[in-house]
Amino acid sequence: MRRFAPVTLAATVTAAALVLAGCGSEDSSGSGAELSVSGAYMPQPVSDSMAAGFLTITNKGGADDELTSVTSDVGDVTTHETVDSSMQEVKDIAVPAHGRLVFKSGGSHLMFEKLKRKPKQGEKVTVRLHFAESGTVTVEMPVQPATYRPHTGH
Ligand code: CU
Repeated sequence: MRRFAPVTLAATVTAAALVLAGCGSEDSSGSGAELSVSGAYMPQPVSDSMAAGFLTITNKGGADDELTSVTSDVGDVTTHETVDSSMQEVKDIAVPAHGRLVFKSGGSHLMFEKLKRKPKQGEKVTVRLHFAESGTVTVEMPVQPATYRPHTGH
C-alpha cells in the first residue's frame, strides 16, 4: 500500500499555490483531487457480527488525497489489507493523483464489525468515506449474494 509523506504533499501544494498566484490565473483544473466511487458492494454477511465491503475510488484530479476513515450506521468500519491471507488494519490510505484505490475480494476491504443489524441481499448500506482533502463522500453500497463476484471482463 502506497503512502505519501504529509510533509512532501504540503510542500507541493504551497509551490502550486505560489505558481497560481504569480500568473493571476484562477484556473483550478487539475490542481485538486477529483474523486469518484464505483463498483461498491457488500456480500451478504454470513456472520452476525462482521461483514466486508468492496469499492473502487478513482482520483481524476492532479493532487493526492487520503482516505482517513470510514463510517456507517450499521456498525464500526475499519480498512483492512490482506497480507499472506491474514488481515491487517491500515489507516490513512493514499488515493494518488490520477490513480485509484481499489478494495476488492482477496485484497484490501472495508471491514464492518459490531453489526447493529445483519444486512440482507437487496438492501443498501450507507457508507461515508472521509477524505483528508475532499471531505465526506457518501456511498450507497448494495448488498449482494454472499457468493457474488463482480464481473471483471474475463
Ligand atoms: Cu478484514
